[in-house]
Amino acid sequence: MKKNKSFHSLVVHAGGNLSKHYGAISTPIFNASTFAFPDAEKGSAIHEGDIPGFFYSRINNPTQEALEAAMVELEYGEACIAFSSGMAAISGALLTYLKPGDHLVAPESIYASTSGLLNYLDSLGIEVSFIDATQPANYQQAILDNTKLFYMESPANPTLKLCDIQAISSIAREHQIRTILDNTFATPYNQNPINFGVDSVVHSMTKYIGGHADILGGILIGSNDLVEKCRWNINKLFGGVPSPLTCWLALRGIKTLALRMEKHNLNALTVANFLETHPKVKKVHYPGLASHPQHDLAKKQMRGFGGMIAFDVGGVNEGQQLVNHVNLCTLAVSLGDVSTLIQHSASMTHASVPKDVREKAGITDGLIRLSVGIEDANDIVGDLDLALSKIH
Ligand SMILES: Cc1ncc(COP(=O)(O)O)c(C=O)c1O
Repeated sequence: MKKNKSFHSLVVHAGGNLSKHYGAISTPIFNASTFAFPDAEKGSAIHEGDIPGFFYSRINNPTQEALEAAMVELEYGEACIAFSSGMAAISGALLTYLKPGDHLVAPESIYASTSGLLNYLDSLGIEVSFIDATQPANYQQAILDNTKLFYMESPANPTLKLCDIQAISSIAREHQIRTILDNTFATPYNQNPINFGVDSVVHSMTKYIGGHADILGGILIGSNDLVEKCRWNINKLFGGVPSPLTCWLALRGIKTLALRMEKHNLNALTVANFLETHPKVKKVHYPGLASHPQHDLAKKQMRGFGGMIAFDVGGVNEGQQLVNHVNLCTLAVSLGDVSTLIQHSASMTHASVPKDVREKAGITDGLIRLSVGIEDANDIVGDLDLALSKIH
């Protein structure tokens, strides 16, 4: 297994290529939609992807290429393609792997728009089975003759449930089934799924990779074959490409990813420990707590436990009161920002999911999702303590 020995150094230099960009320490933003061909013959070869080169930014762009090179290094993949959002990356990956008539297996507890997308694909003839993904055997049991893909999200949004990456990947390999894992919550600082046998990794770069709540972006890392198919057969046609500025902001975010994640991990553990002892909190879900049912698995496959916590304060009324009383924490969806973001899942991110489906996935009425920022941990705890005291 490849080891991630010096992530702090890796992120500072990943994707940098001084010789390509006149020695510029910061990769330039190539705000160009189209690129001149040297001559007709080379132009034709570049256009067909037979030789490397840029010709149109819907296929690739030098700033995007630098970002892709960085993410390949961070996730230990062979190749990478960037997208305009996390959902574009997930749909790009799914459409590259699957065609009508195929079947995939996915967790029932998962980011709501991803399950929405899978249901949509179902209506187009790509069949999906949702399972309790905390048990690898459930993937095995869901296999049909036409199963082509196992989808994973670990830790899952918002329940923080884990998939046993190695066990599920090895079941997949035995049956020639491909695997995708959404690594958005963990980030490559805490977890490298490819080192546990996963074929491909997706991220919403909107979250920790960007890190400052100022971009929408996505990324897919996998084999050369997968990425080139996705670039030329899918994304060239669907067009979900990121702007050069988005790529540059993601590259800049990557430089401080290790520093930020170190602090997110520390702060989240402090906040989770505080919440676990608070009388108004019914349950805390954080893989770094000994009370998390998969804590041992978390220790096996994660180097740190991330900045995301879910906790239950009872019901919709209590949940809404809590988020109305915070001050330092910001009431907002999304996650992975330097500032602490809080939201009430049942009435916000998962409001569109029917109550029975939501509850089966562990998203209870009183569930709060907290994206712990990099402020002083005592200030975050103090803010939550005061807001909890106001719930009646
Ligand atoms: C785990 C996870 N995957 C994917 C996405 C989608 O990313 P984006 O909003 O960048 O499309 C999100 C968004 O919240 C997410 O939390």
